[in-house]
Amino acid sequence: MDNLPVHVAIIMDGNGRWAKKKKLPRLAGHNAGMLAMKEIVRCASDMGIKYLTVYAFSTENWKRSMEEVSGIFGLLVKYVASELAELNEENVRVRVFGDYSVIPEAAKASLDKTLTETEGNTGMQFNIALNYGSRAEIIRAVNSVLEERVEAFAARVKNIDKSDAEGDSVSGSEESILPITEEELSAHLYSGNENGNVPDPDLVIRTSGEERISNFMLWQIAYSEFAFTDTLWPDFTTEEFTEIIESYGTRERRFGGRKK
Ligand code: FPP
Repeated sequence: MDNLPVHVAIIMDGNGRWAKKKKLPRLAGHNAGMLAMKEIVRCASDMGIKYLTVYAFSTENWKRSMEEVSGIFGLLVKYVASELAELNEENVRVRVFGDYSVIPEAAKASLDKTLTETEGNTGMQFNIALNYGSRAEIIRAVNSVLEERVEAFAARVKNIDKSDAEGDSVSGSEESILPITEEELSAHLYSGNENGNVPDPDLVIRTSGEERISNFMLWQIAYSEFAFTDTLWPDFTTEEFTEIIESYGTRERRFGGRKK
């Protein structure tokens, strides 16, 4: 396929409406959504896509009922347990964007096992955005850059004091303390150093007819292409995914530049 996107990000929306349409409990919608996700992971990896990121649970999703929230985490456990062997067979590495330290212990334990056991895989990187919110991610990155700056500043002051006391000229790091650069901020996001410096998404897909971003990768999607479909996530097939990827291949991206 020409112009295969390197990184595809998906907002998997519509599980609840899918269940409602079928007069099923919401969790049945999430279960069907998990099955759809399995197929897309396999398909993306077979196509040769290098990074796939899915929005599985946002920082706002805690507002849902206890039953639904614990049901979603139960599905996560089920997913990773049933898929680990296949993920390894497919050479897929799983990583998490978001603070998942606060998710229920059983889900955290099986996720940790999956992250460790797929660590050596060199094929597609499958990022699960979990307890993820983009504004929180940006604030966390800014704070972490600031912490480094404060440490560097303190070290420099200590050096100046020492040099003064010894009558020497000031030595040591001449790294600038300001300004913060785009590269530096990017490196401190979940998609940065800690998760292998994932390139920005080339394509963002959102299902279920909603056309909004919902606090998903705000920094990283500055130049992404978008594909919106009315299909509810549990009905999203590998055929539709393939069509969207093919259609992406025909788009011309200019990144703010001029048409060639
Ligand atoms: C959005 O549908 C979907 C979610 C909030 C959860 C996504 C979860 C899965 C696809 C399955 C579990 C997989 C993992 C990895 C945890 P919605 O409930 O907002 O649908 P609605 O807008 O129709 O109500």
